[in-house]
Amino acid sequence: MRVGVLTGGGDCPGLNAVIRAVVRRGIKEYGYEFVGFRDGWRGPLENITVPLGVDQVRGILPRGGTILKSSRTNPFKIEGGVEKIKENLAANGIDALIAIGGEDTLGVATKLADLGVNVVGVPKTIDNDLSGTDFTFGFDTAVNIAMEAIDRLHTTAESHHRVMVVEVMGRHAGWIALHSGIAGGANVVLVPEKPFDIDAVCKYVEARFETNYSPIIVVSEGAVPVEGGDMTLQSGELDAFGHVRLGGIGDRLAKEIEDRTGKEARAVVLGHVQRGGTPTAFDRWLATRFGLQAIAAVRDGDFGTMMALRGTDIVRVPLIEGTGELKLVTPELYAEAEVFFG
Ligand code: F6P
Repeated sequence: MRVGVLTGGGDCPGLNAVIRAVVRRGIKEYGYEFVGFRDGWRGPLENITVPLGVDQVRGILPRGGTILKSSRTNPFKIEGGVEKIKENLAANGIDALIAIGGEDTLGVATKLADLGVNVVGVPKTIDNDLSGTDFTFGFDTAVNIAMEAIDRLHTTAESHHRVMVVEVMGRHAGWIALHSGIAGGANVVLVPEKPFDIDAVCKYVEARFETNYSPIIVVSEGAVPVEGGDMTLQSGELDAFGHVRLGGIGDRLAKEIEDRTGKEARAVVLGHVQRGGTPTAFDRWLATRFGLQAIAAVRDGDFGTMMALRGTDIVRVPLIEGTGELKLVTPELYAEAEVFFG
């Protein structure tokens, strides 16, 4: 059995832990051979392969990024893309493919599975917005990085009587903002799921200044004000999956708060710092178990499935369960954070 492995979309801590687990179990327990496809779907599309054996996966468990590299290539946007992929898989003697990715990469995997490709998916994204699984790996690391930043910002904000606005990643879902905001003791958390009222935000800011402490506002990059408008800066370009590049809400919010309350405000954009570097123990554990179970699914011929965490069990669910609909922050969970606003 020859198994191809690829990592697609935005990188996240834990990708290497998945690759290592897949390869180590696949070789040791099942006697499989592996082919690494470089740069996400570009690999099988353009036949860019790298050797993938035990030697290649030694020492990579704690390393961020992905030894297979990544891209946001969408083969369904390229004429003849799917046929090219099928041809290249056949040319490399690939019997099954493990695709490690988020909504876009696994969305492609879902369609390819319907077209007869033997594919198994592993869900990753720091945004934690894939359905079907309790958590995706990478999320815990991102939350811890954001929490540490918030902890540090509290003291400098207090020294200067300033408002600090912390912009975190989260295009459609506010999971990073919610979890890091709760863990870091933020005074306001703004998420894409619930458009915010700038007047209410300013009231929270003023209320906080009546204490000895300073306000910390955690905002997802995809959060928007109720009145709409252009508070979220977007670059004109779309990626191959039709996403605009977000960014700018933190600066705009800080300026608006300063103008309205007269308090000095600063914005901190955590950006890709949340995606880089070494994974937490939880993410290494989750990624490793996803990898072990993904190669077991290949052995069982259980294609068209995605690994999912349910409680402490790793289960297999149809790929479409993970990619059909995004997992969003519910009003009930958001209300828990609201208890601490102001
Ligand atoms: O999809 C994960 C994510 O972290 C989003 O929250 C963010 O908008 C995006 O990646 C940015 O990725 P890049 O800068 O690599 O395009």
